[in-house]
Parts: sequence; C-alpha cells; structure tokens
Amino acid sequence: MSEPLVNELRETLAAARSQFEYLVDLGVENLNRRLPAENRGQQGLAANAAGQESLDAIRLDLGDCQRCGLAASRTQLVYGVGNPNARLVLVGEAPGREEDLRGEPFVGEAGRLLDRILHAMGMQREEVYICNVLKCRPPNNRDPLPEEVATCEAFLNRQIAAIRPQVIVGLGRFAVHSLLKTRVPISQLRGEWQTYRGIPLMPTYHPAYLLRNPEGKREVWEDMKSVLRAMNAEDEG
Ligand code: URA
Ligand code: URA
Repeated sequence: MSEPLVNELRETLAAARSQFEYLVDLGVENLNRRLPAENRGQQGLAANAAGQESLDAIRLDLGDCQRCGLAASRTQLVYGVGNPNARLVLVGEAPGREEDLRGEPFVGEAGRLLDRILHAMGMQREEVYICNVLKCRPPNNRDPLPEEVATCEAFLNRQIAAIRPQVIVGLGRFAVHSLLKTRVPISQLRGEWQTYRGIPLMPTYHPAYLLRNPEGKREVWEDMKSVLRAMNAEDEG
C-alpha cells in the first residue's frame, strides 16, 4: 500500500475510534442512525422575505441590555451561537462562569459534554443553534428569578421564531418549564414529545445534571435518538 493511502486509513480509523468512544461514554447501544440531510439552506431567505426579523436584528434590540438586575453582575451578555437556519435548536438555562467570560453558551464542562452528545448524533455545534432562557449569568449560578425569566424570555421566543427550527431540545428542568409553562417534573417529561408554539420539543436532562448523574446519559441518548428519528422522518416525508 502507498504511504498516502496508509495515512488516510490511519486517519479514518482514528476518527471512527473517537466517534465510538463518545458513544461508549454515553452508554450507547444499538446505534442505528442515519445522518439528517443538509440544512434547508433557503429557509432563512424565505423567512426574511416573509417579513420575519433576523437573529441579528433581535441581538441589536437587546443592545447593552439593562432590563433586569443581572446586568449589574454580568461580564457580558450571552446571546446564542450557531446556524441561523438550524433545523435543531437546543435551549439551556443561563450562562455559567465560563459562558459569561467568553460570551458563548455551553463552553464550560457541561458544554463539552453537550458537544460530545451532538457529535454522537452525527452533528456539529456549528450546524445547530444553542442558546439559553436567560442571556446573563445569575450571580454564583443561582436559579433564575421569575422576574428575570419574564423579562428575558421574549427574546428567546423571538430567536426561535426567527430560526423556525424543525425540532427543539429543552435541556433540563428550567428550560423545559420556561418554554412549556408547566411544572411537571423533568423526570416525567423527558423522552415524551411536547409542543412549543407548534414546534415539536423534546425535553431531556441538562448536561450539567449528567455530569453529576452519569447514569442519566442513557436516557438522554434515547431522547436524542427520538430527535434524530423525527428529523429523518421529515427528510423522508
Ligand atoms: N448551562 C446552561 O444552561 N447554559 C450554558 O450556556 C452553560 C451552562
Ligand atoms: N434536574 C434539573 O434541574 N435538570 C435536569 O436535567 C435533571 C434534574
């Protein structure tokens, strides 16, 4: 075999092994997935032609937001990151310390686990959209206050309306309760399709919860398989 071919094989094997390790780490069995088709590239343009506001316009409206008390303690606002035409939007709770410093959601330890979950789904962070219910870090990561959610959630609603994803994943109790206006425990909601403004929403555990309770990874993987099935079904339908 030629040397370039050997090198290529070696790289392919290394990539496959890394993928396999993610899945083993997640407690995955019976992996049986198809990659979702490419993003519907024209969607964003059509949406704009229909008079819908863009993610950039919503960000501009937020500006140097002083609408609630979190403005005083934050380093910076954490808006959201990813593909404006994403088929999948993932919503967390609020920025933590690293997110507050870097201005990007899910870049700390929980974020690294989220990246591994996405990778196991055959997805990259860049092709989905990731954001939070609150745009600013609560001091010492305390729970968001009802008035903070009431002030901030309109912006999340507008972000989701601008993206018009096919599927939403609610990460953890807080995001799911805020989006669905329910108080049903996350342990009961997870794995069961819900609907947010006409969009299918899958509630699942928060990656930070998984760091403390790794046995939950298996259930999260089940939930993510449902998400992949829903996205594949739409590709075929
Ligand atoms: N936890 C969240 O809910 N969101 C982040 O962005 C980081 C950690
Ligand atoms: N409790 C939470 O707040 N979130 C989870 O994801 C699981 C338990």
